[in-house]
Amino acid sequence: MILDRVKPLDAILATAEKKSLHRSLGAIQLMLFGIGCIIGTGIFVLTAAGAQKAGPGLMLAFAIAGTVCIVAALCYAEIAAMIPVAGSAYTYSYASMGEFLAWTVGWGLIMEYAIAASAVSVGWSGYFSGTILHEFMGVDLPSWLAAGPLALGGAEGGFINLPALVIALLVTGLLVIGTSESAKVNAILVAIKVTALTAFIALTLTSSDFSPERFNPFLPAGLFGGWGSGVGAVGAAATMFFAYVGFDAVSTAAEETKNPQRNVPIGLVGSLLFCTVFYILVAAGAIGTIGGQPIMGPGGIPFPAGSEELARQCALPEYAGALVCSDEALAHVLRQIGFSGIGNMLGIAAFLALPSVILVLIFAQTRIFFVMSRDGLLPEKLSAVHPRFKTPHVVTIITGLAVAVGAAFFPVGQLADISNAGTLYAFAMVAFAVMLVRRNDPSRHRPFRVPALWLVGPLTVFGCVFLFVNLPISAMLFLPIWSVIGIVVYVGYSRSHSHLGRGIVEVVDDIEGEETSIPIHPPAE
Ligand code: ALA
Repeated sequence: MILDRVKPLDAILATAEKKSLHRSLGAIQLMLFGIGCIIGTGIFVLTAAGAQKAGPGLMLAFAIAGTVCIVAALCYAEIAAMIPVAGSAYTYSYASMGEFLAWTVGWGLIMEYAIAASAVSVGWSGYFSGTILHEFMGVDLPSWLAAGPLALGGAEGGFINLPALVIALLVTGLLVIGTSESAKVNAILVAIKVTALTAFIALTLTSSDFSPERFNPFLPAGLFGGWGSGVGAVGAAATMFFAYVGFDAVSTAAEETKNPQRNVPIGLVGSLLFCTVFYILVAAGAIGTIGGQPIMGPGGIPFPAGSEELARQCALPEYAGALVCSDEALAHVLRQIGFSGIGNMLGIAAFLALPSVILVLIFAQTRIFFVMSRDGLLPEKLSAVHPRFKTPHVVTIITGLAVAVGAAFFPVGQLADISNAGTLYAFAMVAFAVMLVRRNDPSRHRPFRVPALWLVGPLTVFGCVFLFVNLPISAMLFLPIWSVIGIVVYVGYSRSHSHLGRGIVEVVDDIEGEETSIPIHPPAE
């Protein structure tokens, strides 16, 4: 069962050719699309959690996570340019490792996209409550409505994160009626985010508050904080990996890219390199100005980010200004060093731009479900397309409700860690898929070939496993538990309903009329 039912690559490619979307995107547009998907809650919010795990070593954490993503991106680039159809890592695995492993990847991608969307919704909520409500309207939500139970910053935690719930539902509503992020809107939002981060870097690195002393000790929780602890520079890297998630969405645009051999890798690697440099500078600015040492618990080990113990410490007056206690890390830093107005503008930038990240993530999730359902592995009712809006409304509504529930009740750091676990699994499988297809089908046309694949491929797998085992134990455990549920569903339902298993080789083209609702996809010629 493990390796059977490999979907024939020829059938997939024939479909891709038939579809023949107009190749119109260049390297710069791809980079903009990538940066639009990548920059979000990770840098705007999780910087606080990263500092609590690693202190100034957060800078190293960004470099480690960025490196793993860059090698993974090269693998994505080869397979995305070669198999340019919907379904991303799930489809690549179906064509190389067979149905069962593809199922586990699709199932893991639910952890990536849906839970990441919940995390970004919670991140958005911090900026909405802090900047829009508190700073501009002078209103504070009652704490039981502002955070889920145990959420960071809510002292003892709240009951429900109402803003996060509402934004997840609003974005879902937009997706149901077919709203897409057009290239123009994306470019504007990228400009807003990049301007906000550039202003942050410029103001903090030149501030009179900046002091190299604050980087000492550089690794207060060590390089490795201990297995399952999720702290130390490497533990922080496993969390801050979230700040890079989303670049895989760029691979889905490979089929619309001019000269993909050149432009897809430039788009993927370029956007990641750009973000890595920016993230390291942002971390340096934040820590150099207001400091980023963790609040230590018993035994000199940092309190876990997002924990109730940390929230209690953060409620003490001595930690009122601490970076690690903030729900809106970057705006908080600017306010602390006397740039309240610009801090509030940065808050508005996050408020405006984060919903588009939620949109891309929920969108990606619905398309994975859609493809799995069209393959018969999930009930076909899920892939019903709305007669008027031409969107897969059933699966979008189910996904949106799940995202909203996650956002309402869980803290951002935990959601991000769980999402990372699923993503790391999917990335490692993509690297395996690329190596397998190279070995089994070496002469097939590849618009882009990973240079030194036999080094880059194993490095990607190693990097993913390395980050995975440095996640907090709860996030690590989520993957096997989630996988067991997935295997039960596969054995109980999907295996017998699979179209391929029933002898139907079907390749999902796309949703009818889809061209109007896929982000940045121009109409078919
Ligand atoms: N990388 C995206 C973010 O940080 C998911 O919000």
